[in-house]
This record gives sequence, C-alpha cells and structure tokens, in this order.
Amino acid sequence: MKQKIVFACQECGAQSSKWMGRCGDCGAWNSIVEERPVPEAVMAGAIEKRYSLAVAAGPQLYADISILNAQRLSTGIGEFDRVLGGGVVPGSLVLIGGEPGIGKSTLLLQAAAHFAREFGPVLYSSGEESEHQIKARGERLGIERAPLYILAETCLERILEEIARLKPSFIIVDSIQTVFSLKFQSAPGSIGQVREAATQLLFAAKGQNIPTFLVGHVTKDGNLAGPKALEHIVDTVLYFEGERHHSHRVVRAVKNRFGAISELGVFEMTGTGLHAVPNPSQLFLAERPANAPGSAVLCCMEGSRPLLVEVQSLVSSTSYGTARRMASGVDQNRLSLLLAVLEKRAGLNLTGEDVFVNVAGGMTVDEPAADLGIVAAVASSIRNRPIKDGTAVFGEVGLAGEIRGATQAPLRVREAAQMGFSRCVLPPGNCPPTDVPPGIQLVEVKTVVDALDAVMDW
Ligand code: TYD
Ligand code: MG
Repeated sequence: MKQKIVFACQECGAQSSKWMGRCGDCGAWNSIVEERPVPEAVMAGAIEKRYSLAVAAGPQLYADISILNAQRLSTGIGEFDRVLGGGVVPGSLVLIGGEPGIGKSTLLLQAAAHFAREFGPVLYSSGEESEHQIKARGERLGIERAPLYILAETCLERILEEIARLKPSFIIVDSIQTVFSLKFQSAPGSIGQVREAATQLLFAAKGQNIPTFLVGHVTKDGNLAGPKALEHIVDTVLYFEGERHHSHRVVRAVKNRFGAISELGVFEMTGTGLHAVPNPSQLFLAERPANAPGSAVLCCMEGSRPLLVEVQSLVSSTSYGTARRMASGVDQNRLSLLLAVLEKRAGLNLTGEDVFVNVAGGMTVDEPAADLGIVAAVASSIRNRPIKDGTAVFGEVGLAGEIRGATQAPLRVREAAQMGFSRCVLPPGNCPPTDVPPGIQLVEVKTVVDALDAVMDW
C-alpha cells in the first residue's frame, strides 16, 4: 500500500495534502514540512498499550476520587521551588525555555543532583552534550556522589526504555527538540516529533508519577520553539530570562497548573553554577546613582513578590528630523501614551526631544502600576532635577492625568520600607493605614501634577 504523505505547518500544526509556500491557516511563510504518518500496525499497538493518564481503567465517580494532597518535593534551590509554586509536584511535566547559554542545563543539573541525593535515582537524558561534557560541568558545580544517571541519547524509544528500567524519581530531557521517535521519518525538532516526544513523556510522567522536566529551545523572537501544542501538553511552562552581559537570571512561570503564574525566581550565575538571590530588590538597586536626574525607584509586583527596580530616563534635544522614543524593559506604546499625558496634563514640552527609558539590570516590567515610575523618571530628566532622596513610587496613570490604584499596595509599601525608603508616592486610598510599616511616609497623589510635586521640585 502506498503510504499517504501529509504536509504540516511547523508554526500552527495545520495539515494539508500538498506543499505550500505559505500556511493557509496561520499565514506563516515557508513553514510547511513533509511528514509521514504513523503506520497502521504501530497505531494498533498504541491502542493496545492503552494511552491514558488515569490510574483506573474507565470513568470514575467524582465522589469516589480521593483527594491527592501531593507533597511537593524541593529542588534544593529555594528560588526554583518558588517559581514552581512551592516545589515539584510528583507526576508533573514542566517545560523550561530560554536562550542558548542562559543556564537551563546548569540549573537542571543542580536540581538533579539534589534530587538524586534526597529521593533516589535521577535520569538526565541529554541530546546536546556528551556524558563527559556534563561531567565537566558537574565538577564545576561541585556535585557529590549521588545516583545520578546521565544518558546521552536522542532516540525517544531508548529514553522510555531506560525510564522503565531505572524507575527514576526525576527525569530531565535536555532538550525536547533533539528527541526523535523511530515512528516518524521527519527530522528531530519538527512538529510531529516534538509532539510525539512530549506526549510519550507525558504518559511516562503521569503513569508512573515521576516529575519530568523538558528543556525547550526558543525561536529568534524569544518564543518557545515548536508547536503551541507543546505548551498545552505540559503542566508548567517556565521561561529563563536575562541578558548575557548581566550575571543575574530570572526564571518566570508563564503557565502553572500547580501555582500562581508570573511568579519569579532570581538567580546569579557564578563560577560554581546558579545561586539563588534572596533579596532581588537589593540586586536591582545596587548600582543606582545617588541624586542623579532621570532615575526613579519603582515598586512593582512580580507574581506574589514585590520588587524594587530602577527606571532610568534620558531626555535630550533631537539632532535629527524626528524625535526618537526608545523603551527597553517597558512597553514602547505605553511610553508614548505616558509622554502624551505628560505633555497635555503636566504641561511638559517634549516636542523635538529624544526620550530614552530603560529599566536597570535588564528587567522587564509590564504592569500598569509601573506608569508612575516612568513618568517620574522622564519628568526628572526633562527638568534635570533629581527625585527626592529615599522616595519610591508606584501607580497607574490614566489618560486624564489621574492616578489609579494598583494591586497589592501594602506589599509594595512594605518592600520599600524594608529596603530603607522613607517615602512612598502612591495612588489615593490604595494602602490602608493599618498596613503601613513604621518608618515610611505615604504620600497619596490624585493627579500626575500632584505626583510630580511629591517627587521633586520642578
Ligand atoms: P548552560 O546551562 O549550558 O545553558 P543552556 O543549557 O541554557 O544553553 O549555561 C552555560 C553558560 O553558563 C555558559 O555560558 C557558562 C556559564 N556557566 C557559568 O558561568 N558558571 C558555571 O558554573 C556553569 C556550569 C556555567
Ligand atoms: Mg543546555
């Protein structure tokens, strides 16, 4: 029998019977790749094997299902546990993505070593590095004797075989894009292969209740490579962020079936691996210049954690035709909007001025409460006056120039007080007086003009 060939889009997974230069479904160019479907005989075998996540065969009455209050297992790295929502849930499938060289393999090897010491055998399957390379890295990390098994393998069937044989307490697959199944003829990393590998590993994780970590590559624009389906399959998606030129790394949860999302863990890359940073605000404010115009301290929230960051701005008259507005770490459109509010509501003239805004330390803040930090930094730079000593700000700015409330204000105020700030400029009525820690003065502001009055002499 002649085998049917299908063509699948690597971006969205749409299938067609012929090759096209552009996917009819998602419009991506040059994303269609030939894939051969699974032969019938293999399909029959799959059905026999019963592909199921359930413990029992067939449906169960809701009332009869017992509550599994699964105990979370610690990775031995506090910040990593935090992003996972308080540790690893047995049987969970976690995808961790990030730029090459950012530290994914390092972090997982550290976690693997701890797991092996505490809970028994761990399988670290790598399709990117040889055993010797991993060993060399492990030596730098100071990994002690532990039942940590390294498998340099890319064939999915072999990995599954080893999982069945070893019965590990923890599985790491580095990376999912290098794994291929013998059932498909398409190249590793193609949509069919990635989906198959993730699905099979999901059955292994759920069926045997083994927590499994998958490393995922990212595309040029920073999204996880491979099908979107991959993110749907897994329980938790973590992103590794950070700049190559900074030593700190941020791990962020963007999907978590077992915890809060946008939870964040901060690490520092050192000569001996990744170390948790217990006080990230201190790290992000470390190099803040004293009394410099254009620098404002913002209390933002990352998940459930308050974080102080420095927003910097530089306004200088433009030497070319059109003024430039450059934002890094904050949204460009948001910046344009805030500049319009400053012009219209506070009477600051920005025509013919280049405006640059940057969040120090390579952080990204994308919550509305960051507005006041941006506004304060820009105004401080235009007027060339520093923000008053010991002042931190937060609050959303509306189009009418009003200051709007932010979430979790008491936590932000407490963090500012802990970091030694003596004043906090915030939206009106946002923080109940009972929640104010001693040593910090709250200045409630209703409008942008009030806010600028509160932060500097302008
Ligand atoms: P790695 O974990 O291999 O990145 P990924 O798996 O995300 O591609 O990280 C490698 C980088 O980290 C490399 O540039 C060297 C650096 N590094 C250290 O600075 N200290 C260390 O102890 C280790 C193991 C790596
Ligand atoms: Mg790696």
